[in-house]
This record gives sequence, C-alpha cells and structure tokens, in this order.
Amino acid sequence: MDDNKERLQKVMAACGVASRRKCEEIIKEGRVKVNDIVVTELGTKVSKNDKIVVDNVELSRQQHVYYALNKPTGYITAVSDKLGRRTVMDLIDPETKKTRIFPVGRLDYDTSGLLLLTNDGELSYRLTRSEKEVEKVYQVRVDGIINQTAVTQLIRGVVIDGIKTKPAHVEVIDFDKEHNSSLIHIGITEGRNRQVRKMCETVGFEVKKLKRLSFAGITLDGLAVGEYRELKPHEIKKLYSL
Ligand code: URA
Repeated sequence: MDDNKERLQKVMAACGVASRRKCEEIIKEGRVKVNDIVVTELGTKVSKNDKIVVDNVELSRQQHVYYALNKPTGYITAVSDKLGRRTVMDLIDPETKKTRIFPVGRLDYDTSGLLLLTNDGELSYRLTRSEKEVEKVYQVRVDGIINQTAVTQLIRGVVIDGIKTKPAHVEVIDFDKEHNSSLIHIGITEGRNRQVRKMCETVGFEVKKLKRLSFAGITLDGLAVGEYRELKPHEIKKLYSL
C-alpha cells in the first residue's frame, strides 16, 4: 500500500548512505537503482520489499543502534583519517563497529565530552540540521575572570565569522583567582565550527579547556573518559521527538 511507502532519499539516509540532502544528489546522479531500474526522480517512493542498490551495492535495512561516547581530547571526530590520526572510532570495539556507526556532528580534536554515534542517517540528519534547536551544553574553562558584560554579550549573541550567534544560556560556575581563570557553562542550539571557542574569544576570553556535558538532555553521567554506552529507549524516543 502507498501508505507504507517512504521517499527514496529518506530510506537511503536511514540506512546510513549519507545525509538526506547528499542522498538526493546521489539519486540525481543516476547512481541508484530500485528493483534493477535506475531512478533519478526525487519524488520516488519505495516500500520495505523494494531492492535498493546504490553504486552497485544493495542496501541492507540494518537495525539502528545509538551510543553516547565520552570523547577524550586528542581524537578527531571522523570515521577515518587520511593522515592516520586517531579517530573516535578507535574507541569503539570491532563488534560494534560492524554496525557502521558514525559520529553525529563534531567535537574538535581538543574538545572532550559527549558525542553521539549511530548508524541512523535520518536521525543524524535531523539532529545536525541548522534549523533544529537542539541544546548542547558545554563546560568551559576560560583564561581570566569573566565579567557580567561578557556574560551578557554571550547570552544575547555575538558576531562570529560575520553572523550573529543565537541566544545562549550562560552560567558562571566558579572563579579560580589563584590561576586567573573562570569556569562557565554555555548552552547553545547551533553547531558552528569552533563556535564556543570563537564566542568566548570574541568577548575577550580565551578557552583553555572545553568539554561537552550534554546533547539534547543526554548527559555524561556514569561514563568515564573514553567509555561509551547504548542509549536507553526513552533517550532515543526523545531525540526523535525533537
Ligand atoms: N564549540 C567549539 O568551539 N568546539 C567544539 O568542539 C564544540 C563546540
């Protein structure tokens, strides 16, 4: 029945081929066959029984898996690295890797903390879309004693790379007068390149240490650095409801 059919690009993304937008390009390039016929129409709908082949490889409608990793610093957020640097996948055991998980979004090499991994391309696409207001909370150690003016600027938004950041939640946690630094929590709903570092620099405070504490309410609780765990059903449900 037509009701059980889904758009081809959505199914491809859910199987982990690429983001939905990229899948649309792949379809337009004539690289996708449905039941042995090349399809270039973006409106094409498919059912569970249709055979989908991308670049001559048949898609397996894999079981989706979802993990939260406590990323250490010194690892790049990628599935592989041409320069041979350590990636977050080096922290995942070989059996889990067989599920073809990949990181949702990115943390810098020198950022630690919560990173989601999944083989669910559709959910990943939804969570990393710029219009989605998914809150990510960071613990930030900045050089110097932060002042109210800087905090207010961070809350209201500052211009980085020519574009103003969306309103943020900012909480000052502690001052370390001896080492001349401050500890703050910043909650942002965007995911721009080195956003927190750039925001703090813009208001005159260099970031010394950056750790992501939570992503859409999923926290690091109980996870040692370098460890990962499966998400609980209610956490997955929450991510889908965003
Ligand atoms: N903001 C940054 O500056 N770096 C990260 O890794 C994440 C957010």
